[in-house]
Amino acid sequence: MQSLATAWRAAGLSVGLVPTMGSLHEGHLSLVRKSARENDRTVVSIFVNPIQFGANEDFDRYPRDLARDLDLCGQAGVDAVFSPAAAEMYPEGFCSRVELRVLTESLCGTKRPHHFCGVCTVVMKLFHAALPDRAYFGQKDAQQLAVVKRMARDFNMRVAVVGAPTVREADGLAMSSRNAYLNAAERAAAPRVFEALSSAAALYRQGVSDADQIKRHVDERLSGVPLLRVDYIEIVDAETMRPLESVTGPALCAVAVYIGETRLIDNIALEV
Ligand code: PAF
Repeated sequence: MQSLATAWRAAGLSVGLVPTMGSLHEGHLSLVRKSARENDRTVVSIFVNPIQFGANEDFDRYPRDLARDLDLCGQAGVDAVFSPAAAEMYPEGFCSRVELRVLTESLCGTKRPHHFCGVCTVVMKLFHAALPDRAYFGQKDAQQLAVVKRMARDFNMRVAVVGAPTVREADGLAMSSRNAYLNAAERAAAPRVFEALSSAAALYRQGVSDADQIKRHVDERLSGVPLLRVDYIEIVDAETMRPLESVTGPALCAVAVYIGETRLIDNIALEV
């Protein structure tokens, strides 16, 4: 991958990278299309990264379908797919980690203690492999986007980290590979998450800026939903991911919920 990217760069071609864990959906493909518009070459990485999953999480059952993913990449005009084996990424003796503070001390960072360390470590490796000018991440994983942006800045990396809007199903459910876990009853409950977030954004537009009040509003909308259990509801600064007491600048309302056994995250910008 590095030789190919080096050759492209030597020929004056710009490179876009879309890092994924496969099981591609329209959200990933929107990133691919954006990269293809903005770069001469687009690479998609497909790697289910073991070190970003906790011991009791879904690494083993995470959906994998490389043949289908390669097909979709082919149709989308991707120039290269980088799909390394775990032993290639983490050979015997691998002992380095990339760890960011502050931005990882809220939301999923506190609920999934080693998650962002695993994400940053693999993303740094992917950046070194594909040598991208730009790398594309979805806004659905808002904390991941903020963390990777900060990592690139803190380590003086020459890559521009680009965010793109969450792609949603017609009923508002944010696209995610984990939606495949939902049974029919769970799938029917899932759109209530975006309904609650939209209602929070509307409340903010009506002039409510107190974070507790907005969180209570979301909680009331989610608490009666069958099969759904709230993991967190938080109002955070859009850049630092620090929890806010009151919204005075760019902010997000972010939630994580369990629907049945499936943990889903989503967020909405609070803006006038
Ligand atoms: O968002 C994901 O799919 C993963 O966290 C990423 C960025 C590909 C790193 O493994």
